[in-house]
Amino acid sequence: MLVLNDVYKTFRMGETQVNALRGVSLELPVAQFSVIMGHSGSGKSTLMHLAGCLDVPTRGQVTYGGMDLTSLNSRERADFRSSDVGFVFQKYNLVSNLTAVENVALPLLLRNTTTKQAHAQAVEALNSVGLQDRMAHRPAKLSGGEQQRVAIARALVNDPTMILADEPTGNLDTATGDRILNLLSQFAGDDKMVLVVTHNPEIADMADLVIYLRDGQVESQQFQEVAR
Ligand SMILES: Nc1ncnc2c1ncn2[C@@H]1O[C@H](COP(=O)(O)OP(=O)(O)OP(=O)(O)O)[C@@H](O)[C@H]1O
Ligand SMILES: [Mg+2]
Repeated sequence: MLVLNDVYKTFRMGETQVNALRGVSLELPVAQFSVIMGHSGSGKSTLMHLAGCLDVPTRGQVTYGGMDLTSLNSRERADFRSSDVGFVFQKYNLVSNLTAVENVALPLLLRNTTTKQAHAQAVEALNSVGLQDRMAHRPAKLSGGEQQRVAIARALVNDPTMILADEPTGNLDTATGDRILNLLSQFAGDDKMVLVVTHNPEIADMADLVIYLRDGQVESQQFQEVAR
């Protein structure tokens, strides 16, 4: 279970201060597909970054499986991300001079997997998102939707327990988007935690839990019965 306990995140930019999250408390069980919705600027990406240990809250506590993520040092946070988190960023964040398969293999190589093994697993992950014909392409030679799928393959390749995806289907056509969502929701069925930011109500319909953020606060939470 991922627990956020009265979490605040404040960004300071010179004189101004932005309160991106203002007292967020949430409990997200494993094996659930949860969705975060809310207007632009409501704090969705900020919340995802805290959940995935990419950033630390200004105040409050984040725990995962009972472990206090807010007490980890930067080295321990990096280890946690490498072992447990698969992150699909809003803006892909692919490495431009690496091919698709090299981008996907990267998280494994950072964990000391052998090159051969990393390559094999990267190929498998790219197959699962339908990119078997784009292995050797660099990001600039891929469409937006294809880059997004490489980013998804990269997030899945290290077999994380927590999958965080920030608008993962924003650039995908309906059929591809459906396929990716089925893949993500299947992970929830396999005892992993899946948290997706989306503006798409159809995606929200597939979720066990829909969280609405407004101005950095939880406006509402809706539990749903879904077939998986
Ligand atoms: N690194 C940062 N430095 C300063 N302000 C930031 C930073 N990151 C986010 N913010 C501010 O915090 C608020 C919440 O941002 P966040 O990116 O979480 O919104 P969001 O809900 O993901 O929006 P969108 O739907 O547009 O992606 C915004 O007002 C944003 O400008
Ligand atoms: Mg965002």
